[in-house]
Amino acid sequence: MSDDITFSIIKPDAFSRGDAARILFRIAEAGFTIAALKMIHMTRAQAEGFYAVHRERPFFEGLVEFMSTGPVMVMVLRHPDAVERFRSLIGTTDPAKAAPGTIRAEYGTTVQRNAVHGSDSAENAFKEASYFFSAIEIF
Ligand code: RTP
Ligand code: MG
Repeated sequence: MSDDITFSIIKPDAFSRGDAARILFRIAEAGFTIAALKMIHMTRAQAEGFYAVHRERPFFEGLVEFMSTGPVMVMVLRHPDAVERFRSLIGTTDPAKAAPGTIRAEYGTTVQRNAVHGSDSAENAFKEASYFFSAIEIF
């Protein structure tokens, strides 16, 4: 695995509204292929582990609470320059500031409930993919 993969989550807000398939369609349309995909309902401990880098941030408690409220879709996506390309596709963290046409502008509602996650570096993409998938589950 290298620069060509990123890790994404369709977060509980988008999933519970029934937007997961529409978001997957947008991702496919943008040329990403799915290397791994599953639905899970994270425990609080699992969400804390995933967001461990944000442990000291004021929004950490609310974030892990939100991420463990319901099912999510976790996935590994493949595309040249996957991390950068995917972050452009989803838009900036706050949906209100995300460029028109981005997934967060379309499906996100608040800074926290912003519909999707996308890795911020190739190194983190690998770590995050490995947190949810074993090597033989990533195609
Ligand atoms: P993500 O990791 O989910 O792709 O989002 P990001 O890089 O754009 O944002 P990051 O700074 O990594 O924050 C992770 C997630 O925490 C929530 N958040 N809440 N209330 C707040 O001020 C706040 N700031 C961030 C968001 O759900 C964000 O995606
Ligand atoms: Mg981030």
